[in-house]
Amino acid sequence: MSLMRTYLITGGTDGIGKGLGLHFLARGDRLIAVGTNPAKGKALLAEAERLGASDRFHFLRADLSTLAGMRSVVAETETTAERLDGLVFATQRFRAHREETADGFEYTFALSYLSRFVIGHALAELLDRSESPVVFNLAGPGGLPGRIHWDDPHLRRGYTGKKAAMQSSRCNDLLAVDFPRRHPDTRIRYVLYNPLFVKTGMADPLPQPQRAVTKALAWLLAQRVDKAIAPMVDRIDHPPAEAVAAFRRRTPIPLTGKDFDPEAADRLHDLTRGLIAER
Ligand SMILES: NC(=O)c1ccc[n+]([C@@H]2O[C@H](COP(=O)([O-])OP(=O)(O)OC[C@H]3O[C@@H](n4cnc5c(N)ncnc54)[C@H](OP(=O)(O)O)[C@@H]3O)[C@@H](O)[C@H]2O)c1
Repeated sequence: MSLMRTYLITGGTDGIGKGLGLHFLARGDRLIAVGTNPAKGKALLAEAERLGASDRFHFLRADLSTLAGMRSVVAETETTAERLDGLVFATQRFRAHREETADGFEYTFALSYLSRFVIGHALAELLDRSESPVVFNLAGPGGLPGRIHWDDPHLRRGYTGKKAAMQSSRCNDLLAVDFPRRHPDTRIRYVLYNPLFVKTGMADPLPQPQRAVTKALAWLLAQRVDKAIAPMVDRIDHPPAEAVAAFRRRTPIPLTGKDFDPEAADRLHDLTRGLIAER
């Protein structure tokens, strides 16, 4: 493939997203990286300069826990890029205590699920201008359990950070199953990917003592980012034949069972559209 490709990576300023972005820049592709922290954007620009890639790099500062931030990323991408070859979702920020966004959504629901819903659907047309477009959604398919709290998606009752993280993973499972049904003529391949344990700043927002324990476990057990991204790059460069597929590292996860139930996917789609319409 000699053509210069364009990638949008939400959460592209740190951890796995940053690792993927630098890989794409180093091989000559274009990158739009989204994050909230301008210092991280500046540091990434310095790395892009070192790679001779600053003219192919664009940092978008946006808070993707808010609808305004999600919409600004869509609008700016549409003005910055003529087409998108890959859209990587890699944002996360653990919240030990329940937090509400400016739109009245629970923070993790908004950041880890809703931003993927809004941006993915809105940029489908731009992706379809590519020969082989991919949406690569980093989440937790086939991982820890957890469920969608249909009657209380904003977790007003009995919030825990883990419950919120697990709920957003289940929502992303259904979003993936649902995506090709909403874009029946699309070329886009939708990939759900669970990287398992990777050494990133993921543990930083955890309260003590979980932070120290997670960091110690990461030191012992987690993969380095440069190693972890190799199978992701393979998957992005060689998307599966199926419209939607899920993987735990290199292992395919069958899209069966309640996590991938099409009826539940319909229900979540309607619930989500309703929540957005109210704002
Ligand atoms: N690391 C693991 O072991 C692991 C395991 C399973 C799944 N995953 C998934 O893999 C993905 C990447 O994880 P990671 O560990 O690489 O994450 P990370 O190192 O913690 O980086 C998170 C990224 O999200 C961005 N971000 C956070 N809040 C944001 C907001 N409100 N608006 C916009 N951007 C925001 C951060 O940018 P700023 O700091 O600039 O805001 C940063 O670029 C996530 O989807 C995660 O769920 C990771």
